[in-house]
This record gives sequence, C-alpha cells and structure tokens, in this order.
Amino acid sequence: MAPLIEINSLEVRAGRTAIVEKLNLKLRKGTPLTILGETGSGKSLLAQAIIGLLPKGLTVSGQILIDGRDQAGLSRAQRERQWGRDIGMLPQEPWRALDPLMPALPQVSEVYELVGKMEPEAAWHRASGDLDRLQLANAGNKIPAQLSGGMAQRVAFAAATAGGARIILADEPTKGLDARRRDLVVAQLKDRSANGGLLTITHDIEVARQLGGDTIVMRQGVVVERGTTEQILSSPKSAYARALVAAAPQNWPDLRAAAVGQPAKRRVLAGCGLSLMRGNKKLFSNLDINIAAGEVLALSGDSGTGKTSLGDVLLGLLPPSSGQVLREVEAARYQYQKLYQDPPAAFAPQVTLGRLMEDLICLHRLDRGRLLSLMARLNLSKKLLGRYPHQVSGGELQRLAIARVLMLDPVLLFADEPTSRLDPITARDTTLMLVELARESGCALLLVCHDPLLVEKVADRHLHLGAVAED
Ligand SMILES: Nc1ncnc2c1ncn2[C@@H]1O[C@H](COP(=O)(O)OP(=O)(O)OP(=O)(O)O)[C@@H](O)[C@H]1O
Ligand SMILES: [Mg+2]
Repeated sequence: MAPLIEINSLEVRAGRTAIVEKLNLKLRKGTPLTILGETGSGKSLLAQAIIGLLPKGLTVSGQILIDGRDQAGLSRAQRERQWGRDIGMLPQEPWRALDPLMPALPQVSEVYELVGKMEPEAAWHRASGDLDRLQLANAGNKIPAQLSGGMAQRVAFAAATAGGARIILADEPTKGLDARRRDLVVAQLKDRSANGGLLTITHDIEVARQLGGDTIVMRQGVVVERGTTEQILSSPKSAYARALVAAAPQNWPDLRAAAVGQPAKRRVLAGCGLSLMRGNKKLFSNLDINIAAGEVLALSGDSGTGKTSLGDVLLGLLPPSSGQVLREVEAARYQYQKLYQDPPAAFAPQVTLGRLMEDLICLHRLDRGRLLSLMARLNLSKKLLGRYPHQVSGGELQRLAIARVLMLDPVLLFADEPTSRLDPITARDTTLMLVELARESGCALLLVCHDPLLVEKVADRHLHLGAVAED
C-alpha cells in the first residue's frame, strides 16, 4: 500500500542557511509516526512544509507526496482544497488556530459545515459531542481569551480533526495538559490513526510511548535516528537520542537538597483568604499562600482549575473576589514578573526581538552584557535577536521570554509552565538554571507544572489546586 505521506530529500532554507536537510520519511496508514527532537531542530517547519504553509522568506525543495500526489504539481488553490478534508494540521500554538472572537462550539461546528458539508443542526450536534469527549462540555460558549491554555489546546484539537481528514499533523498536541487529559488526547489521536495517518511532534516521551508506531529523532535539521518507537525509547543508538530519553525528570538531580539546613528566608509575598470567581464559577476560596526569597513553590492542578488566575492575583494583574495580597519586600513593581504560559502572548508581533530587548534595557537602565550572558546560558544564538517573534521556534521564544524576565532581577517570578515547549534535555537544563538563579539571587519562584516527578525533584513546597466543577 502506498504511504499516505512520502517525503524525499526535503530541504527547508532561509536564504543560504539550511534549516531542514535532506529529510526522507514515509507515513503509513495505521502506523503513527512521531518526531522527537531538539528545540529549534526544524520539526514545526517540516510540518508546515508538508501542508504547504511555510512562512514567507523560507524556501523548500525536494519531493512531497500526499496520498501519492506530488505537491509540486498542484496549484495553491488545489493545495488549500486538501486542508481539513485530506490533511489537517494542529499548529504548535493553539491560539493561532482559533478565531479570537468566536466561541468554542461554533469554531468546531463551522468545520463540520464548511468542510463536511453538514446541515447546521447536525454540525452543532457533532461539535458538542466532540467537546464533551474532550471534557469541554461547559466551554462551548467561551471565546479563546476565556479559555485556559490546556482548554484552548483541546478546542484547537477538536477543530483540527472535525474536517475528517485522513491525515493529521499534530504539533505538540498535549503541552499544557495534565496527565489525565493528555492521555485522553493521545487516545483520540491514536484512534484516528487506525484508519488514517498520524504524524505527531512532541517533547513528551510518554506521549511517544503511548502512540507506539515509529519514531524519528531530529537535531539541527537532520534525522539522527529512526526506528520503532519501542526500540528508540528502550535502546536508543545515537548519543543524542540516548541523552534525550535519559533526560526525563525521574533522572534529574534532587534540587531540593540545596535548601536543606539553610536559615529561614524572608517572606516576599503573602496572600490571605484569597477567593476568585470567574463568571459564576468559583476557582478557589479562602486560600492562604506565602512564598519566601529563594524558595521554589510548585503549583499544580488540573487544566482550568485557576493556576494562571492565581498567579495573576498574586502579581496584582487581577483583583481577588475577596482576600488580600501583601508584598513584603521593597522592590520595583516590575520586579514581580510573570512568564506567560503561551510565549507569543508576551511579545509584540511587529517588533524584532532585538529591538524589544533594547527597549527594555533602555527603559530600566539594564546591563546589556547580562542579556547576552543569559542567552548563552539558555543556549540561544545571538542571531535570533535580528528576527521577529514568529521567525523563531516555539522553544526558542519560550527561552527568550525567560532571558527577558531574568534581566529584570525579579524578586518574585510566576513561571507558568516555563518549559512546556522544550525538549527534555533543554527543559531539564532550563529548569535547573531557573532554580539555581532563584537560589543565588533570592528570587521567589512560583512554578506551575503538571509533572509530579518534576515537582518532587525541584519544589521546596507544593500547592495543589483542587478540582472545580468541570471546565
Ligand atoms: N521565518 C524564519 N526565518 C528564519 N529562520 C526561522 C524562521 N522560522 C523559524 N526559523 C528557525 O528555524 C529553526 C527551526 O524552527 P522550528 O520552528 O521548525 O523548530 P522546532 O524543531 O519546531 O522547535 P521547537 O521544538 O522549539 O518548537 C529554528 O532555529 C528557528 O529559529
Ligand atoms: Mg516547533
């Protein structure tokens, strides 16, 4: 049987720089193909090249066959006609896949109407069923800005798959989801792949394991290893794949030990009796929370329980419905900082990254050398500063956001899943660096994370937000 996707000698270039080099792959019906790999290695651009959505300024060469049809022979309109119907894509940033003004349910039912040619009522019915299965029954009338990151991720998934495309390209479909919801999305993806093609890009080794099938591992634009997922995860051959699999949190050093025996630190912030209502849903009530200098406090809780909202309350970005937040150290307002769950939300799209950093340096009279040393520590090339936010990878933008907040010497940093877009090696190194810097500089670090193993390794204390009525 002919493969659903066949790629021969694919190259993606920015001018003379090759971003993806001589890549070959075959995607077959019933065998999921998963791409693991380093942040910035060309995974998302590969997916965009396949579907025909490469950003301006990048060029592609080589052969792409979808269902046996050579894409080079098709007009733009013919390629677009395949979208949703033959091949569907879930982009890395769910917000980019959603209409900001349209509630969740119509976003999904519209796809059934437009692509599936269903009557409005039947489309509505199908869309509600999809949202139900993704535990989004009560989110149907919310617009994207009213959804949590994990909820938006699932709505985008429903919209991307509603067209009934036989081939699905899913770029990090489970980031920002707690383990239960992650497993739910993986099971649905796997279901679809039984009768079609599924190409998944993920940084989550557990997702690769659950999907099974085949895996390729990418680094710096090339495939460094390929094989069955089972073989790659149990006995990787290349040094890079070995390091990647070994970087899972259970193998991290225990960072909590560093705090043991140290004198009690001064308190940076305290929240007393905090409650927050959103719409008619109570997210949390009568919550007491405090955090000291140099302390790492992990915050966990299911998707939609109010972790991000609690951070916004503590930072003074959102008033609590009741209770009080007390700042207990002398510091400038800008030293209470937040790392957004969704990195593009933190960057103005029309300004180069260098200009943006430069503005911040001038505004707060910061040390320019500090930015470069933070970027080096985060393994980011200086070249990225000449680009716009949409011209760097998801993981590069996430680390640039980290460099930017650290330049401001925060006394409190609310880090909302700060490594959700990073491969396991870079995630480990970045988390270790954040914790190390917090300890060195006495910054209080409030870390939102879903992985209990990670909490165990890094957090001095742990706060779990309980379930609210389903989202
Ligand atoms: N428009 C562009 N112009 C020039 N270079 C770009 C552009 N878009 C992306 N790049 C670069 O191409 C490389 C690959 O990007 P890509 O988004 O495919 O990475 P990725 O493997 O998906 O990474 P991540 O895991 O971080 O999402 C990155 O180094 C990125 O900086
Ligand atoms: Mg990517």
